[in-house]
Amino acid sequence: MRYNFDKHIERSNTASIKHDLKDIIFGTKDVIPFWVADMDFETPDFIRESVIKRAMHPVYGYTFRDDAYYQSIIGWMNRRYQWEIEKDWILFSPGVVPALNMAILAFSDPGDEIIVQPPVYFPFFSAVKDHNRTLVYNQLIKRDADYGIDFDLFEKQAQTAKLFVLSNPHNPVGRCWNAEELNKLATICLKNNVLVLSDEIHSDLVLPPNKHHVFAALSKEISEITVTLHAPSKTFNLAGLSSSSVIIENPELRKKMKTVLQSMHIEMGNIFGIEATKAAFNYGEPWLEQLLKYIQLNVNETVSFLNKNLPEVNIFVPEATYMIWLDFSFTGLLDEELRNKMIHEAGLGLSPGKDFGPGGSQMMRLNVACPKEILMKGLEQMASVFRKK
Ligand SMILES: Cc1ncc(COP(=O)(O)O)c(C=O)c1O
Repeated sequence: MRYNFDKHIERSNTASIKHDLKDIIFGTKDVIPFWVADMDFETPDFIRESVIKRAMHPVYGYTFRDDAYYQSIIGWMNRRYQWEIEKDWILFSPGVVPALNMAILAFSDPGDEIIVQPPVYFPFFSAVKDHNRTLVYNQLIKRDADYGIDFDLFEKQAQTAKLFVLSNPHNPVGRCWNAEELNKLATICLKNNVLVLSDEIHSDLVLPPNKHHVFAALSKEISEITVTLHAPSKTFNLAGLSSSSVIIENPELRKKMKTVLQSMHIEMGNIFGIEATKAAFNYGEPWLEQLLKYIQLNVNETVSFLNKNLPEVNIFVPEATYMIWLDFSFTGLLDEELRNKMIHEAGLGLSPGKDFGPGGSQMMRLNVACPKEILMKGLEQMASVFRKK
């Protein structure tokens, strides 16, 4: 491997949310952090070099996104997903969560019903509630080894809903939705005039042989009702550079979204985000292939370690993302007791499942995007505390 994902990077004292806010989040600094969804790996060299090169120029004045920026995104979508998009379709947002909030403002009114699929990334809930829209839970169906969609319920809910926020792939349950599932959702949305906000921030992190399906790319008809949210931030570990895209084919929808984006005056973004995006999408594939292999290795190691040493934990092996969704219901502990035991006895900072809404109770989300050695240390600590004596 050209890149060394085993390398330990000291992230303390870099204003890292994951590493420097442990005492605020967990009440102690003495935990190994496996929570926030960023990676403890180096952002790849070719991205750092592009940022450094720009930083060496002595003026950081007002900047726009040049044609090369748009071409890098167009090229990435075409090569990786055979999705042909045009420059005009791409709008900028500093982040996917801000884009989601602005899309909700653009495409719905107070009181409108918006469907989400918990247990799901919790800013989906606040994006709906903070703007006085109505949350509709299409709770995922927990099966033995993975999660499925309650289509019957979705069909009923779609009759009165305005929007559907899809996590494609799904955080935290790790599903890479297949074409059949997505087409079923799309058919229902088309029939009922429900607009789809497809959050595809984890799409590049699909573990082979699974294959990501861009929701909007399923058909021209579906593209007309879809707003796609994408970013280089999860894939290349550059969330601190605040750059993401909102991709919309339908000109009417695009106009509405643009009106809200422009009203916020946040279009400029930042110089380094622009350079990093270009480098990531133009040169990122070989690095990404290696990253995915390393994540798969860490997933495999976690599964085999827990199966051997803590077999009571039910593991939802991810098809995508670097998060593993773990079921701790065998402990019989209440959520707060489980959280405390994980923090204060096992010395581990995971994301508590209950934060992800209905269906999250007694679950924990483990972020495995870290050197294997650190992951194994964490798993040892977990097993030694939760193993049945
Ligand atoms: C599904 C999903 N959407 C969005 C985000 C964050 O997006 P951003 O940092 O661009 O606002 C995350 C981060 O974990 C995520 O899991």
